[in-house]
Amino acid sequence: MHKSFVVSAIAAVFSVSAQAASLPGDTASGKKLYQANCTSCHNDSVHTRKDHTVKNLQGLTDQIHNCEHMTDVKLEKNQVNDLVKYLNETFYKFK
Ligand code: HEC
Repeated sequence: MHKSFVVSAIAAVFSVSAQAASLPGDTASGKKLYQANCTSCHNDSVHTRKDHTVKNLQGLTDQIHNCEHMTDVKLEKNQVNDLVKYLNETFYKFK
């Protein structure tokens, strides 16, 4: 009983991270957060340039944290999720 609960919980975590379509977060909120907090240093052309540095979802999340640390902005975990989802759906399209 206990063991099968753990197994299905792990399976649930993997199935979420395997499908970008079911990323947690809210695209519309991510877009607003981006416009409010992120365009002072770069606009969204950094995400579409040919040699963009972000290569996968983990890299995207890490880069958002890097950018957060360069600013006074403090992002909640759900706000980071919103930004990841917005940027991924709009530009990167990582699976
Ligand atoms: C203090 C300035 C600053 C702010 C504010 C900032 N960034 Fe950045 N960001 C940078 C710099 C510098 C780079 C690297 C640009 C380069 O490599 O030419 C970068 C790059 C990125 C990249 C990688 C682009 C690529 O090459 O794929 C992402 C993603 C990103 N920022 C997201 C964000 C998000 C989301 C926010 C708002 C929460 C944000 N940034 C706010 C400075 C900032």
